[in-house]
Amino acid sequence: MRSDGCGELRAKQISSNVQLCGWVDRCRDHGGVIFIDLRDQSGTIQITIDPERGKELFTTAESLKNETVLQIVGTIRARPKESINEKLSTGEIEVLATQITILNEVKSTLPFTVSIHDDEPVKEELRLRHRYLDLRRERMKQNLRLRHNTIKTARRFLEEEDFIEVETPVLTRSTPEGARDYLVPSRVCEGEWFALPQSPQLFKQLLMVGGLERYYQVARCFRDEDLRSDRQPEFTQLDLEMSFMSQEEIIELNEKLIAKIWKEVKGIELKLPFPNLSWQEAMDRYGTDRPDTRYGMELIAVNEIVKDMGFKVFSGAIASGGSVKCITVKNGNNSLSNVRIKPGGDVFTEAQKAGAGGLAFIRVRENNQIDTIGAIKDSLNNKQKQDLLEKTNAKEGDLILFGAGETEIVNKALDRIRQYLARELGLIPDSYDNKSWNFLWITDFPMFEVNDEEKRLEALHHPFCAPNNQDIGIKEEWQKNLPQARAKAYDLVLNGLEIGGGSLRIHNSELQKEVFQSIGLNSNEIEEKFGFLIEALEMGAPPHGGIAFGIDRIVMLLAGEESIRDTIAFPKTQQARCLMTQAPAVVSENQLNELHVANTCIEEE
Ligand code: AMO
Repeated sequence: MRSDGCGELRAKQISSNVQLCGWVDRCRDHGGVIFIDLRDQSGTIQITIDPERGKELFTTAESLKNETVLQIVGTIRARPKESINEKLSTGEIEVLATQITILNEVKSTLPFTVSIHDDEPVKEELRLRHRYLDLRRERMKQNLRLRHNTIKTARRFLEEEDFIEVETPVLTRSTPEGARDYLVPSRVCEGEWFALPQSPQLFKQLLMVGGLERYYQVARCFRDEDLRSDRQPEFTQLDLEMSFMSQEEIIELNEKLIAKIWKEVKGIELKLPFPNLSWQEAMDRYGTDRPDTRYGMELIAVNEIVKDMGFKVFSGAIASGGSVKCITVKNGNNSLSNVRIKPGGDVFTEAQKAGAGGLAFIRVRENNQIDTIGAIKDSLNNKQKQDLLEKTNAKEGDLILFGAGETEIVNKALDRIRQYLARELGLIPDSYDNKSWNFLWITDFPMFEVNDEEKRLEALHHPFCAPNNQDIGIKEEWQKNLPQARAKAYDLVLNGLEIGGGSLRIHNSELQKEVFQSIGLNSNEIEEKFGFLIEALEMGAPPHGGIAFGIDRIVMLLAGEESIRDTIAFPKTQQARCLMTQAPAVVSENQLNELHVANTCIEEE
């Protein structure tokens, strides 16, 4: 149907006859001559319709609506000097049309304009409802191409490293990753359900038991959890598993993979190895296990300095096992008024959202005099003031914000304020600057965290992570030591976002059973839920480990987008709904009966 792509035409083809297909990007009538910008996947070209070439041709061109699908036959010629468009790769030439065929008309009013000349923001709801139109726009086209290049580069790299791609089942049992499952009822096995995989975790481990040694998959994962701009109910992982490799070897190989992607996709040379922080250090210094290290404002513990002061919120917090930590806002006296930090102010509200009851602060004035305000007033002696200045390195003009109470809440509140202020005070450098791709490995996570509601331990990642050998000691001590043990787990964080996570796995069936017991499963439950895994581990499972990267998040960062929805062709909304197909949808009673499922919503009505 066509000889060339619209965007591929160049001046060296002047005088050639071409046949093109594409969409009308826009039409302009310039005193009798009509110009059509014809757009296809490769770009746009100006088509010129001269009335002298025939009335019929001209009448057709006059009637064209934007986004009509055309086939054009014509001859390439040079544009007059004054109308050369240097911004377009085809800007030196145009095609003088001799024939226009309408391949399809636009029959309804377009909900928004698609033209490359128009990048006006369109409401996301409208974009998602008519995603096929949104995909014709330059931004989405570029994002999907970038996504394709990212996956292509990863595949090439992994294939060169002898990984093979294996598909794992989508209809399966629950694979615990901490979210709710999407369930699918079985028609043939009455009353029984499949779960869609939250990740291919168990299958990739079983592939290692199966002797494959190096596996990867571009895997779709399903998690029914609260959605955010970086979370979708179905998302894509680049999922890897390897046998006979140490944690250091796995990390080194994956750094090379990431560096290759950045080089191929963005032309950026990353510096290897990436820095590393233990989980504990990350929590101490940033209050989070995914710190954004592009700016300072680190959290500083001041327990020793304030433990004896008269201000009971501070001394009381420490006496009951909590902490007092602070962040120093450089020149904060200028940028942040008392009103913003006191109850009702925006900075205070941020702390509150993280569960903090209050937000104390002091200001460093001229000659490093500390100005204590509100409740702290007069409760710091000179030595404490001096120690605080030294510890925080605060100078004249700086503001110090304090969190006091349970360490977990203090960390959460100060992390939240740190991020909020960094955005608002413009401390975050532009990501496209080579220096501001701040990769960071977080290692030595705790194996478990406490589920406060159910008063039991929960795996911090998943219950298949291997514990640190030194922490668990000899077999007889496993049960006692496991709750405090660190895991051989590692997350990769980029500019404050977790882009990947993995671990070495347990390959000893006895240890795996102990870990299941630690999270409250009894022998029957272990057998019922994970009997197949225990059995496999007893049949010569090799030492193995792996990692999974969030492809949507990586592409979001590479594309400079704010939401992973802009990196997925057909994403879902915050309510996990597809606005285009209107899924999920009600199904017929017959279908439900066949699946042995009762619709209680309908019954209640
Ligand atoms: P984890 O749960 O950390 O590990 O997931 C790996 C990576 O997947 C991305 N991710 C998501 N992206 C978009 N939407 C979501 N809802 C979502 N949830 C997670 C993140 C994350 O780092 N089986 C383990 C991996 C392993 O141990 O090998 C796992 O799934 O970028």
